[in-house]
Amino acid sequence: MLELRGKVAVVTGGAAGIGRGIVEALLEEGARVVVADVEAPVLERTVRELESRGDVTGVVTDVSDYGSVEALADTVFEQHGCCHLLWNNAGVTSGGGGNPWDQEPNDWRWCFGVNVFGTANGVLAFVPRMISSGEPGVVVTTSSGDGGIAPVPYASVYASSKAAISCFTESLAHQFAAQKTNLQACIFYPSGGLLETGLWEAQRNRPPELARTKPRPPAPGTTFAEFKAALAAAGRPTDSVDLTELGRFAVKGVKEGRFVIGHNLDSAGRLLHARADAISKGELPPSALDALG
Ligand SMILES: NC(=O)c1ccc[n+]([C@@H]2O[C@H](COP(=O)([O-])OP(=O)(O)OC[C@H]3O[C@@H](n4cnc5c(N)ncnc54)[C@H](O)[C@@H]3O)[C@@H](O)[C@H]2O)c1
Repeated sequence: MLELRGKVAVVTGGAAGIGRGIVEALLEEGARVVVADVEAPVLERTVRELESRGDVTGVVTDVSDYGSVEALADTVFEQHGCCHLLWNNAGVTSGGGGNPWDQEPNDWRWCFGVNVFGTANGVLAFVPRMISSGEPGVVVTTSSGDGGIAPVPYASVYASSKAAISCFTESLAHQFAAQKTNLQACIFYPSGGLLETGLWEAQRNRPPELARTKPRPPAPGTTFAEFKAALAAAGRPTDSVDLTELGRFAVKGVKEGRFVIGHNLDSAGRLLHARADAISKGELPPSALDALG
């Protein structure tokens, strides 16, 4: 069991949503937490609200910009001398759903910039220093079952980005072991019910230079309210997940040394078996929507 008391943890996208739940859980464990987020006012408020619970600081960071992530790493190593836990959690949807062929180059640039390059930038800026410190450490990727396990076809860009970072994290974990480092890597799949977070309004952080050239309204069913209503109409559970509890669940998984952290992994496994069976026959594998029935 990994001991987090006094350890240094960096959480990207930790100012709100799932990341904030992770930060809260890490503070409960006694970790020293650096929250890195692009949304400065929310970051400032979150750090203020949490500072009575432990050692927490904020660094405004755009994970899609390598220079910004390198500056974050400089700050962390200057102030704390080490980093034991890097949690690449920041993520966005390019939003609106729709057909893959309607997604614009800027949808790809923004979504991959944050989700894929953001994860890579964290690894490039932090891991060499984590390795040379000789301290034990963990790199966690917040991925998504959408892409990490099977795609939601109308969220094709987001799903592709999450498939990429799940694959990257596997490679990372293998190489950490092969190179006999003191580091581990793992993947967190947020799960356990409806996740009512700012992801549904991720466009708030979209840089103007990566705006769509042809603005289009969200496709039907892609707002949180519509998604919830569709689940209710299908007789499916619509309970929202408590994000602090989700953070505790994820941190517990890290402490236990799991490679995959998520709820209902048995049903993910059944879907992956069905996908493998289809692939072995040269057929189109079932999507995440097929699995819902
Ligand atoms: N909400 C879901 O249903 C769901 C499901 C599976 C996976 N996830 C993943 O969970 C992670 C957290 O998302 P969330 O649902 O809490 O959404 P959220 O919008 O509430 O939180 C994301 C955080 O990332 C920050 N962020 C956005 N762009 C950034 C950038 N360029 N640099 C630094 N920070 C940036 C935001 O300001 C925000 O604080 C994401 O990786 C998301 O893909 C979410």
